[in-house]
Amino acid sequence: MRIQFAVVLLLLTVSMSCQHVNKEKKPQTETKQERSGFQLYEMSEMAALMEQMYVDNQRIRDRIVQEIEIDDTMPTLHHRLFSAVMTDPSERDLFFETQARAFIQVEEEFYADPNQKTKEKFNAIVQACLSCHQKKCGGPIPRIKKLLIP
Ligand code: HEC
Repeated sequence: MRIQFAVVLLLLTVSMSCQHVNKEKKPQTETKQERSGFQLYEMSEMAALMEQMYVDNQRIRDRIVQEIEIDDTMPTLHHRLFSAVMTDPSERDLFFETQARAFIQVEEEFYADPNQKTKEKFNAIVQACLSCHQKKCGGPIPRIKKLLIP
């Protein structure tokens, strides 16, 4: 029973993160076996930041859909995109830096105008997530697409 549960847990965490990264890192995660038999997936600073950005944007999405006023300022944490340590540090290349700057700019534009927090402007943020993920980390794309407001 326990082993079956651990396998399910491992499959879940693998499907959550970048596919290609996980393929390479698999032997490493297998050495991180706990006494209970659970497989632990150690999240990088960047992966944790991404999960936070996901949650932040999901909250914004909910309020746009429910037509609740948004008077938040841009979460300053998102600027960590430029410094957070990644699972594979070599992924921080020119493409990543360009996409990161474009993403932050789109997000700043969204937060800058209190009267323009529209579905279109929000979807532009999600598109900026996707355009980096198209090349950098394919795994979460189906999850990120769920943020788009139809
Ligand atoms: C500039 C490129 C870039 C942008 C923009 C970007 N991501 Fe990511 N994302 C990455 C990279 C690279 C990783 C892998 C991080 C790692 O494993 O260290 C990642 C990982 C993730 C993960 C998986 C984290 C995990 O649990 O392993 C999710 C979910 C995610 N991003 C969602 C988002 C969302 C939502 C946005 C927009 C709000 C976004 N990303 C914007 C590059 C980007």
